[in-house]
Amino acid sequence: MEEKKVLYSAVQPTNNLTIGNYVGAIRNWVQLQDEYRCYYAIANMHAITVRQDPAALRKNTLQLLALYIACGIDPEKCVLYVQSHVPCHAELAWVLNTITYVGEMERMTQFKDKSARHAENINMGLMDYPVLMAADILLYQADVVPVGIDQRQHLEITRDIAIRFNNRYSPTFTVPEGIYGKVGAKINDLQDPSKKMSKSGDDPNGAIFLSDDRDTVIRKLRRAVTDSEACVRYDPENKPGVSNLLSIYSVMTDKSIEESQKEFEGKGYGEFKLAVGEAVADRIEPVQAEQKRLLADKGYLESVLKSGAEQAFRTARKTLDKVYRKIGFYQGDR
Ligand code: TYM
Repeated sequence: MEEKKVLYSAVQPTNNLTIGNYVGAIRNWVQLQDEYRCYYAIANMHAITVRQDPAALRKNTLQLLALYIACGIDPEKCVLYVQSHVPCHAELAWVLNTITYVGEMERMTQFKDKSARHAENINMGLMDYPVLMAADILLYQADVVPVGIDQRQHLEITRDIAIRFNNRYSPTFTVPEGIYGKVGAKINDLQDPSKKMSKSGDDPNGAIFLSDDRDTVIRKLRRAVTDSEACVRYDPENKPGVSNLLSIYSVMTDKSIEESQKEFEGKGYGEFKLAVGEAVADRIEPVQAEQKRLLADKGYLESVLKSGAEQAFRTARKTLDKVYRKIGFYQGDR
């Protein structure tokens, strides 16, 4: 049997997840789980690069695991684990730090954005975030990494780091490719469609959280910014608000953009927004119910994490040993 290619991705267990995280990442993971050998991590080490409440971080970790499974990721097929349970991530990140330049990290858009937003806490970890992400991906020799567009730059630097290491020491790492969804790789803020929908945006009406109830979803969508043309048409340049809503509708109903656009021909924005709201609520309600059911079975969730960490560790340690050998770390008879 031909070996499956390897897929790696992760989400940070911070605050609530938005439908942007679902559409840009998790939804695609479900579709890819049969084709690839998949590793899906809960990136708690990345999360602490901005200040977290420890109790909330702990709670969000199991919540995110339950969400992965509730969204349709099968722990029997995929390796689901918590990043900090596999110490190789921190160890490889240290090595990769020594072949990554400060200037490269300073140029990262997300670092610049987060530094502006958390001016009181521009810590080393925040700057090092992409190197840890490179370590995550390279440890598993991932061929593909499905993420939203906002992660493209981090993936590019991961490739650069892999190529640099391979050139300096000899081929060691697979150089990964990013996979970005055709629709929904960037879901924008409902109140300001020029920026991405984020967990930590300024206006709570700008983001729909996966934990929002039907009334909240519909209310937020009713208030979503559109334009004065009163025509439901996909044109991201001139109609960013409406186009964003069309993307959301299309993904939530599994219809194409063209089909969705056709459905609202001659209809007003009020009706359109209500339909988007219903579509989002219809899609997330069963996920919420399943997540709740899973969270009641902590024993099961912990068994998934234990098995995930063991499987992840085996693969990761193999790569790390190889790296240590190549760079000249004495390992005795290991
Ligand atoms: P995080 O938690 O910030 O985002 C998780 C995933 O959601 C995608 N995403 C979006 N997609 C579309 N529209 C949006 N508005 C939107 N907002 C977020 C992100 O692109 C991401 O795919 N650094 C990663 C976590 C990570 C990781 C990794 C990913 C850590 N190590 C290794 C891949 C491989 C992140 O952005 O998490």
